[in-house]
Formats: sequence, C-alpha cells, structure tokens
Amino acid sequence: MQNIYQFLKELKAYWVANDIPNVTETNAKFLRDLVKIKWAKNLLELGMANWYSTINFAIEIAKNWGKITTIEFSPDSIAKAKANFEATWFDKIIDIRCGNALDILPILEEKYDFIFIDAMKKRYKDFFILTWDKLESGWIMILDDVIKFKHKMESFYEYLEETWIRYNILPIDEDDWVIMIVKD
Ligand SMILES: C[S@@+](CC[C@H](N)C(=O)[O-])C[C@H]1O[C@@H](n2cnc3c(N)ncnc32)[C@H](O)[C@@H]1O
Repeated sequence: MQNIYQFLKELKAYWVANDIPNVTETNAKFLRDLVKIKWAKNLLELGMANWYSTINFAIEIAKNWGKITTIEFSPDSIAKAKANFEATWFDKIIDIRCGNALDILPILEEKYDFIFIDAMKKRYKDFFILTWDKLESGWIMILDDVIKFKHKMESFYEYLEETWIRYNILPIDEDDWVIMIVKD
C-alpha cells in the first residue's frame, strides 16, 4: 500500500473529474482533526458514497482503536468501497450497512461518540431525529453541506430552533459549510 495521503489525493482527483460529491480536502482534514482531538472511537456515518470521507475517518479511528459504522444505499459504491477498504486494511474496522438509512437507523442499538450526516439533504430532519438519541453526551455531530443545500433542509433548521438545540455553522471552506452540534 502506498502512502495513505497520496492514495487519498489520487482518489479525490478521480472523483473531482467524475463529479462525485465528496467532502472537500479541507473539510476532510477538519473531520480527521476532530476525531483525533476528541479520541473518538465509535463513529457513525450516513452517506459513504465513494468512501472518501470514510477513509479519512478511518485513518484516525484506527489510531484510536475504534470502529466505524457507515450506511449507504448505492450497491455500486459499496462494491467499490469494499475492494478499497481491503486494500487499506480498513475493512477490519469499517462495518458497511447497505440500505436506506431511514430503515437501518431504527435497528442500530449502539451509542456513538461521533456522528457524521452526509446523505440525502431533504431528509436531514429525519436523520437527525433518528440519530440524536444514539449520540453520547459531550460528543459531536457534524452535518455536511448545510449552506449550499440549505433550501432542501428548512424543516431541519426549524426543528433545531423548536427544540432549542444549539449549534454552530462552520465555514470550513467556500464549498463546504457544516453544522457542528456538541451534545450537552
Ligand atoms: C454527498 S454523498 C456522500 C459523500 C461522502 N460522505 C464523502 O464525502 O466521500 C451522499 C451519499 O449518500 C447516499 N444516500 C443518500 N440518502 C441515503 C439514504 N437515505 N440511505 C443511505 N444512503 C443514502 C447517496 O447514495 C450518496 O452516495
């Protein structure tokens, strides 16, 4: 296996050329840093696509002896992801759940210390409601693309206001703004 960061750069270049909506490199670094400084060990991701974010998380989660559960409903992405996870040895710590997150979330029984939401934008309110109780107190939820696609998630913003859940919107870079919620 070549250097993991070189591997990521090549993957990213391919996906940019093919218009696949991964997190940006700046955002990927931000997410890795959060996992690192919090020593997160049990991460839940909604929306793996071509696994760029997942591999970024895995780099740090592996150092923390942790694991990742990621949910994705595209069989094509999952097939390619499996091959690449094996190449990086991250398959040992990544549990891929194939299907609609709206169906899978209710049957997950664990609690997580880091939740990353990057699936269908118009379902953010539903994803949030289905994951909030699964987040440990004092830990972090990040929701991606919250400005670019704000028009698709008005109900989610309204829900946060109604429930008095405090959040920060972080301009990670011009293309990728996130909401960060640290659970009380
Ligand atoms: C923006 S892409 C994820 C990008 C990935 N996080 C990255 O940065 O490399 C969104 C992905 O979420 C998946 N998705 C959308 N809604 C979903 C749902 N309800 N259940 C499972 N996967 C979903 C799509 O198939 C797509 O691959």
